[in-house]
Amino acid sequence: MQKIKDLARQYKDDVIAMRRHLHAHPELSYQEYETSKFVQNKLKEYGIPFKVMAETGVVGIIEGKSPGSYTVALRADMDALPIQEENEVEYASQNTGVMHACGHDVHTSVLLGAARILMQLKNEFDGTVKLIFQPGEEKNPGGASLMIKAGALKDPVPNAIFGLHVHPTLDVGTYSFRGGEAMASADEIYITVKGKGGHAAAPHLTVDTIYAASQIVVSLQQVISRRNDPLNHSVLSITSVQGGFTTNVIPSEVKMMGTFRAMNEEWRFRAHDLIRNVCEGVSKSTGAEINVHIDVGYPFLVNHPELTADARKLAEAFAGEENVSETELRMGAEDFAYYSQEIPACFYRLGTRNAELGTRIGHTPTFNVDEDAIMYGMGMMAWLGAACRSEVKK
Ligand code: NI
Repeated sequence: MQKIKDLARQYKDDVIAMRRHLHAHPELSYQEYETSKFVQNKLKEYGIPFKVMAETGVVGIIEGKSPGSYTVALRADMDALPIQEENEVEYASQNTGVMHACGHDVHTSVLLGAARILMQLKNEFDGTVKLIFQPGEEKNPGGASLMIKAGALKDPVPNAIFGLHVHPTLDVGTYSFRGGEAMASADEIYITVKGKGGHAAAPHLTVDTIYAASQIVVSLQQVISRRNDPLNHSVLSITSVQGGFTTNVIPSEVKMMGTFRAMNEEWRFRAHDLIRNVCEGVSKSTGAEINVHIDVGYPFLVNHPELTADARKLAEAFAGEENVSETELRMGAEDFAYYSQEIPACFYRLGTRNAELGTRIGHTPTFNVDEDAIMYGMGMMAWLGAACRSEVKK
């Protein structure tokens, strides 16, 4: 443990420089070509063998003593968001309209730092560490699903996988964990309402699409409030309604969008049917033609309870009990969920807040982190990679 801490301190400035390079050169989901090359070059430099998969994904392997005895996978995501950066820092994004506003630059550099540490200490731990650098966390179908399809979880199959996310409301130097349900599934809803446009003063000669759309917005809420078990976390929000252009014309089409989230796969797909039923009912009562498309996104994220409990104990030993807390339940989504559906998984949070920086929420143009978090992140990742040997089953 002490060696890991010492190396994390020693490599800190170098890893911060990598983070700044990645931050200045962000790439959108599935276009992480330069980022991927950067990762590959670093692994080469550290002497770590790797494979490229899913176009820009990279999987590195570090074999310790008796490499077949256990495999831990450590995962980082590499993509940025279509946001114009507003931070005035020397390492601000050089790519117009693209920004690492979710901290994936931190995740990638933290995993590179951890890789360097683990490679150096490979004669001091048993088993194999698999490094997974994945594309496209921010966009369907989710880079994790492509990495799994491409075989990232095979040869060898990891006994456990860890991922972290920067957390802007958690103080730097601290971590949080949560076993069981952790984040929601997220499906995109697209609804088109078609009717007969016409004069607003003669609605009886039209099929009123605005009225039908309004019925849908209101009625869909009963799927959550009346059909779902109140103890089952779920939320549905209609986030866009577009139709019409003036005061005296009923438009012939209204388009709507929204999101549906859940923490239970069975309820999730039953709710999809209920959403379609509501639209069918409104279609019958209004005469409008209603088309529903649900784009199925990430599943819900479940942290293996025993693995997470073991990891939390390891984290407390590494960072002190006072620096490890319980993550609050959230309805956000994260494609790490795909790994959690396959093998024992634990997704934890890395504190990035300090008093001066304040809380810088992700997915905003002024998101940023306390860069000390990078040292704490690579230390913890390396520690979990070297020390977690939980014999849990999915
Ligand atoms: Ni993210």
